[in-house]
Amino acid sequence: MSPPAVSVRGLRFAYPDGRVALDGVDLDIGAGERVAVLGPNGAGKTTLALHLNGIHAPQAGTVTIGGEPTTGDLAAIRRRVGLVFQDPDDQLFMPTVGDDVAFGPAHAGLRGTDLRGRVASALDAVGMGGHAGTAPHHLSFGQRRRVAVATVLASRPDVLVLDEPTANLDPAARRELTDVLAGLEVTLLVVTHDLPYAAELCRRAVVLDAGRVVADGATGDLLADTDRLAAHRLFLPRGFDPRLVCGSALTGTAATAAAAPARDAAGARRGGDRRDAVGRPPGPAAAARSPRRLTGPGRGAVA
Ligand SMILES: Nc1ncnc2c1ncn2[C@@H]1O[C@H](COP(=O)(O)OP(=O)(O)O)[C@@H](O)[C@H]1O
Ligand SMILES: [Mg+2]
Repeated sequence: MSPPAVSVRGLRFAYPDGRVALDGVDLDIGAGERVAVLGPNGAGKTTLALHLNGIHAPQAGTVTIGGEPTTGDLAAIRRRVGLVFQDPDDQLFMPTVGDDVAFGPAHAGLRGTDLRGRVASALDAVGMGGHAGTAPHHLSFGQRRRVAVATVLASRPDVLVLDEPTANLDPAARRELTDVLAGLEVTLLVVTHDLPYAAELCRRAVVLDAGRVVADGATGDLLADTDRLAAHRLFLPRGFDPRLVCGSALTGTAATAAAAPARDAAGARRGGDRRDAVGRPPGPAAAARSPRRLTGPGRGAVA
């Protein structure tokens, strides 16, 4: 049996000031799954995302991608795991959109028509074909976020991790991003406190609080448990019925994967219990934001 797309075991991480951000996270994600990582501010969501492509190294525990530890070949890990930062302006730093999207594959050795084709298909995938020659700062915020997704897709990752993808998007841009993400055939982790968005896009949701996984199960079941949500400072918009929306944007394999029953962390999926279905000062987020960091092999996201 093939290893999970993402496996996190006993992951602990404290920032240099001693603040414990992750306090023993266990999480398995199967290939092709779409999983929302929910939790209040400060829960550790971004810190977890930064571990998935090796921007942070575990201080205790392990993170493996398709069986490979993130502490191994960093360039290879960053080709397999694309991380879309919360702020697209952390991801876009070249003069044109096309240069930004070409950065990762060019670094991996792609040249000429192959490279141009890769750029074009990544931009098409996010509905931004025809903008290769545009300067990123001439685009709207929503368009920049989609281009940020394209910069990562251009390296053809197995796993796409998005940190608060709906932050600062107007409703139309939010809808466009949903359509883009729902059409991708990748393992998807969506880090968010936007519960309706999680409901629409992900059949499975994990709740992180105080650096631990406190719930893991079917998004509809988790979001229906308003007392548990409130206990973790998560609230649905008034009148929102997750059962009417859950999975509505899903297509393809993730749409047909059986929904798992909601479970408490104690019973959260581990090893044999899995489905087979299918990046602030002075910490590393700031490092990821700096142009110097971004021009390295991994540009903070994908090599
Ligand atoms: N660079 C940093 N230095 C010190 N503490 C940090 C840093 N980044 C995050 N933290 C702290 O780590 C914890 C988890 O933060 P974070 O992963 O950003 O949570 P979330 O993304 O869920 O809001 C919080 O207590 C936060 O204040
Ligand atoms: Mg965050």
